[in-house]
Amino acid sequence: MSDRKPGFATRAIHDGQAPDPLTGAVNVPIYLTSTYQQEAIGKNKGHEYARLTNPTRDALEESMASLEGGTSAHAFASGMAAITALFTMMKSGDHVVCSDNMYGGTTRLFDKVLSRFGLTFSYVDTSNLSQLAGAIRSETRLVHIETPTNPMMTITDIRAVADVCHSKGVELSVDNTFLSPYLQQPIELGADIVMHSTTKFLNGHSDGLGGVLIGTTPEHAETFRFVQKCTGGILSPFESYLLLRGIKTLAVRMKQHDTNGMAVAKFLQQHPKVKRIFYPGLADHPQHELAARQQRGFGSMISIETGSLENANSFAQALRLCLFAESLGGVETLVCHPASMTHAALGEEGRARLGITDGLIRISVGIEDEADIIADLAQALDVV
Ligand SMILES: Cc1ncc(COP(=O)(O)O)c(C=O)c1O
Repeated sequence: MSDRKPGFATRAIHDGQAPDPLTGAVNVPIYLTSTYQQEAIGKNKGHEYARLTNPTRDALEESMASLEGGTSAHAFASGMAAITALFTMMKSGDHVVCSDNMYGGTTRLFDKVLSRFGLTFSYVDTSNLSQLAGAIRSETRLVHIETPTNPMMTITDIRAVADVCHSKGVELSVDNTFLSPYLQQPIELGADIVMHSTTKFLNGHSDGLGGVLIGTTPEHAETFRFVQKCTGGILSPFESYLLLRGIKTLAVRMKQHDTNGMAVAKFLQQHPKVKRIFYPGLADHPQHELAARQQRGFGSMISIETGSLENANSFAQALRLCLFAESLGGVETLVCHPASMTHAALGEEGRARLGITDGLIRISVGIEDEADIIADLAQALDVV
């Protein structure tokens, strides 16, 4: 074999997932054990207790570090557990700058929980570099962004933000949930830490929660491992296995999500009942060129404005194939109503500031046949 680094799809299938040395099984076994027999005091096979290490989780962490181009990865019980772990790097008095439009649960964690421990947060439009630079102060430890944002699909220039952060001695973390490492590689663009809700595209089958932090320094690896050990919010062996299984098909799934996403966006764009569409893959999206430059594709997350709560509700109730449900990134098309679901916690005022109306619908386009997805959306729009 040459020294050439294997491609993404190859690494997704093989990295961290070598055949089991004991039996040759081609899949990583699910190690259901809470503890490990030790040979003598201080002498063991590298495992002591399952909160610290588990071979199934270790395999997943190796796979994720490889796919994101980091030096370490640490897996947690959910995306929120991963974000919480990230912020245990902080101490009282530290300040964080973040995207003003993020997953509502992240904002809720910052405002309702972490702020009680003396952390402060500034919300800015991170696509506006001067606003971002102006918000960084001497106590700022981290800039945390989502791109594309949820659900307004605003793009932030990761390389430009990383340059601003590094010129001020601040680290940049990117929530890469919406695109997965197949469509976006934040570390290659200068990010220091990548975070995922693996519940979404990485798992891909809507059958398990999870979260992961990918780091780029020995300090990240040490801190995140220490947090796993101290707080215990780790990913279970079974869910680690489900995720490893999902990751093996990530490349082919994401290609199809991307193709279907574009087809559905083009259909919705010309539909008279759709008042506005938010999809970075369309040429008239204000940041289309930036998305084309920093992403490998545009993905399958689309938001549309139906005009009112009544219209959104009629549309949701009329769906026959697509599922009206929270979450995203599954093989099935998932449709959600951000105002009452993912972003309910922001309150009316918070949502109004970001343009999240009662008529906004978010679609996570699945990998069913494109014509069937479009036919279902068309018949549901007919009743609006
Ligand atoms: C962008 C983003 N980040 C984080 C999360 C939280 O992840 P989890 O639901 O796995 O805790 C979500 C969940 O919807 C999300 O969409």
